[in-house]
Amino acid sequence: MSQSKVALVTGAGRGIGRDIALRLSREGYACGLIARTKSQLDETAELIRKQGGRALVTPTDVSKREQVLASVEAVERELGPISVLVNNAGAYLKKRFTDIAEDEFDFQFKVNCYGPFFCTQAVVSRMVERGGGTVIFVLGSESRGGPAQYSAYTASKVAQRAIAESLAYEFGHLGVHAAALDVDGAVDSERVREAMPDVDPSWFVSPERICEEIVHLVNQPKSSWTFQVDLRSYAQWRPRVAPKKKA
Ligand SMILES: NC(=O)c1ccc[n+]([C@@H]2O[C@H](COP(=O)([O-])OP(=O)(O)OC[C@H]3O[C@@H](n4cnc5c(N)ncnc54)[C@H](OP(=O)(O)O)[C@@H]3O)[C@@H](O)[C@H]2O)c1
Repeated sequence: MSQSKVALVTGAGRGIGRDIALRLSREGYACGLIARTKSQLDETAELIRKQGGRALVTPTDVSKREQVLASVEAVERELGPISVLVNNAGAYLKKRFTDIAEDEFDFQFKVNCYGPFFCTQAVVSRMVERGGGTVIFVLGSESRGGPAQYSAYTASKVAQRAIAESLAYEFGHLGVHAAALDVDGAVDSERVREAMPDVDPSWFVSPERICEEIVHLVNQPKSSWTFQVDLRSYAQWRPRVAPKKKA
């Protein structure tokens, strides 16, 4: 059964999510764009239109189920049935364990765990009814556990990975491909280069290759689906080595 080329990308206002939306658009997908900041989503949509694609801006907080449901309705009404969901939106916290407040701990779970739960729940049954789809979870190094000062973020990402794996087993035979894309390291961006000015840029994970993996996962045939992809640069194998300094 041929599927409609409509993708829903969360966290599409900037960073990796924007790159993913632009790349899926170049693959022929109309893109529903989710994040809280409308102005950033508008910028992404404009970039998509400039390259000849279609996009719908739906400002949404993924941690609010009603907002997620409304966004999915709007995207399906305006663009068509969603066949690809990329759960990319993320909250991040680096803090000493003893300093983490309860609401900060909650917030990590609300965005990184409840968010993908709400988004996936909103689309997965429809995908099954239509014969299939792909749900990708963008994870980070910490989804394997540790390191120091990442306990809240780590816990929420480990939980997100658990949802991904359970989903793969629960919905695979019904035609839905769930995959965990584990980006193990800092991703190259202006923000990261500014934060680590002395580090050789080749040390960072390339956003283009992340997008390449997304396209690869989306296009895999049913007979041979990947569940887990670990993507890391040559310098970031464990145990971590000191960042390579610029020459
Ligand atoms: N950057 C890295 O080095 C790196 C490495 C490994 C894994 N990752 C993972 O990759 C993903 C994207 O990271 P990034 O660096 O591109 O992040 P980013 O630049 O901070 O962008 C995050 C995006 O998610 C959106 N977002 C945050 N909270 C949201 C919420 N409650 N509801 C809806 N949207 C929300 C943000 O928009 P608003 O704030 O406007 O909502 C923004 O569009 C994350 O899941 C992260 O864990 C990143």
